[in-house]
Amino acid sequence: MKILDGKAVSLKVKESVKVRAEELKKFGVEPTLAVILVGEDKASQTYVRAKEKACNEYGIKSVAHRLRENTTQAELLALINVLNLDDSIHGILVQLPLPKHIDTNTILATIDPAKDVDGFHAVNVGKLVSGLGGFVPCTPLGVMEILKEYGIEVAGLNAVVIGRSNIVGKPMANLLLNASATVTVTHSKTKNLKEVCKNADLIVAAIGKPFFLKADMVKDGAVVVDVGINRLDDGRLVGDVDFDEVAPKCSYITPVPGGVGPMTIAMLLNNTILATQAKIASHKRA
Ligand code: GUN
Repeated sequence: MKILDGKAVSLKVKESVKVRAEELKKFGVEPTLAVILVGEDKASQTYVRAKEKACNEYGIKSVAHRLRENTTQAELLALINVLNLDDSIHGILVQLPLPKHIDTNTILATIDPAKDVDGFHAVNVGKLVSGLGGFVPCTPLGVMEILKEYGIEVAGLNAVVIGRSNIVGKPMANLLLNASATVTVTHSKTKNLKEVCKNADLIVAAIGKPFFLKADMVKDGAVVVDVGINRLDDGRLVGDVDFDEVAPKCSYITPVPGGVGPMTIAMLLNNTILATQAKIASHKRA
């Protein structure tokens, strides 16, 4: 069994971001990410701080907009429209979840797809499904980067994705399909989940339930990727995989923490560099 060290892969991606950010600055362009946080959600505050810190460390300027909980949808839309038109902003990220009185889909649809470094706009979702490039959500993109880095060839594998969220499960399934895996997406209504999983060469667990994937659901030699980040009552951070019992059966497995988690921010920085480079290329063409 080999551990897939997402922390190490994330450092490699971030070092490459730093080099490319410096190159862009030599051409007078400072890659810049606008991060919008609405309200006081503690987990979101932590994520946003981590995103800002990573930007600062690896050569990307971050511009944070912290808005009060009772910000209206109209106010948020107005801010996004300003950022869409601001040539000095290359990426826009609206931290989710938003307060209940704001319609998330309306907000995501307003972000300029060329600045949508989270890959949540329907244009980018459509491009992913059609295999046309565009921005891809950072967490599943990070999973693909780990698999690539370890030379795990997914073409032809039976891949099972557990969870069908717009942020992880659905884009993950599409990335694996685009890489020629045979993909099954499972969810809370799936029958015989154990049998489906037992047939998998690769399992990506993204359900948000601690210790959900057990040893009797995994075949010998499978690759297991754990996207879960669950905080237990005792403060421990654990994944969706019962690591201690599943790991001995795997050829490769990601730990939690130190697996997929660090990749999300690394790929966000990478997407911001790509957005900046694309902007420059479009200016040259114009
Ligand atoms: N909330 C949980 N994950 C994410 C993410 O990847 N991006 C944004 N914007 N919000 C999130």
